[in-house]
Amino acid sequence: MVKTASQPDALLAWMDCLADPMRLRLLRILERHELGVADLCDVLQTPQSTVSRHLKLLLDQRWVQSRRQGTNHLYEMILDELAPAARKLWLLAREQMESWATLAQDELRLQRRLSQRENDSQTFFAGAAGEWDRIRNELYGGRFDLHAVLPLLPGSSVVADLGCGAGELAALMARYVANVIGVDNSTEMLKAAKKRANGQTNLDLRRGELEALPLKDAEADAALMILALTYVPEPQIALDEMARVIEPGGRAVVVDLLRHDREDFRRQLGQKWSGFEASEIERMLTAAGFKNVNVTPLPPDQNAKGPALFVASAEKA
Ligand SMILES: C[S@@+](CC[C@H](N)C(=O)[O-])C[C@H]1O[C@@H](n2cnc3c(N)ncnc32)[C@H](O)[C@@H]1O
Repeated sequence: MVKTASQPDALLAWMDCLADPMRLRLLRILERHELGVADLCDVLQTPQSTVSRHLKLLLDQRWVQSRRQGTNHLYEMILDELAPAARKLWLLAREQMESWATLAQDELRLQRRLSQRENDSQTFFAGAAGEWDRIRNELYGGRFDLHAVLPLLPGSSVVADLGCGAGELAALMARYVANVIGVDNSTEMLKAAKKRANGQTNLDLRRGELEALPLKDAEADAALMILALTYVPEPQIALDEMARVIEPGGRAVVVDLLRHDREDFRRQLGQKWSGFEASEIERMLTAAGFKNVNVTPLPPDQNAKGPALFVASAEKA
């Protein structure tokens, strides 16, 4: 029998069910796609036991339906089959959730998962071809193709790696360009970078702040800032500085976290900011004096546990 909201227990049970962010995120996904538990764990980055517990509640309360496919169960929410009052409650909740940063993260992972499923069926038909990524990785490692891309940089360039950390990328780039200037404010990180540089004379490591770079105006042809901007109290000042040290026409690349709601993650990593909206980065780079700004969310790596990243590229005007 379909329950109506005139029964207090039904209304309270529906509201209780919706009073949980994880269940709201599940419903938001299952309203649009029929998915299995493994898909949902991947999209929500949540252990199976937690997802299954929430799904059971949603099933019991008839928010979602399930059907068997082989050894799996698939779940979906069919809006038209909800009790009218439950439907109204859901529509209200959905509207209020629109601006949650976590939903944008879920969406990125969902799109990756869906395209992976498409790939899976291609894999099925194409045999070993679909296995190639894995085999390639196992045989040759995951980073060697950087050595194929880096020689595309003009050999005469001076590249600044701002917030260079332990210098892995800076040392790699120094093999292919005239000079790399690595800047970081951590003595320990710079020590590690120096050790890694192992006598590379064109890797110039400098201690300094991203908000007051130890570089002259237009000293670099290009600059990178990777996973450093979330640590800076005044990101606009750091990007202004980045623009100052690049010569006109030179390129800048910033890679960092997209806005997320994982406060525990931010605190654990000691970051000042919970990532940035693509529009914020675009605005800040433009204000710093860059043109042709392009901000692209990166497809989340299947094995990555952190929030999704963006890559922003721009040209010094
Ligand atoms: C997460 S690490 C990233 C390092 C490197 N770019 C990478 O991708 O592996 C961030 C680095 O930025 C440096 N950093 C953070 N805030 C800084 C600031 N205000 N000025 C200079 N360096 C800073 C930290 O010391 C750290 O080495």
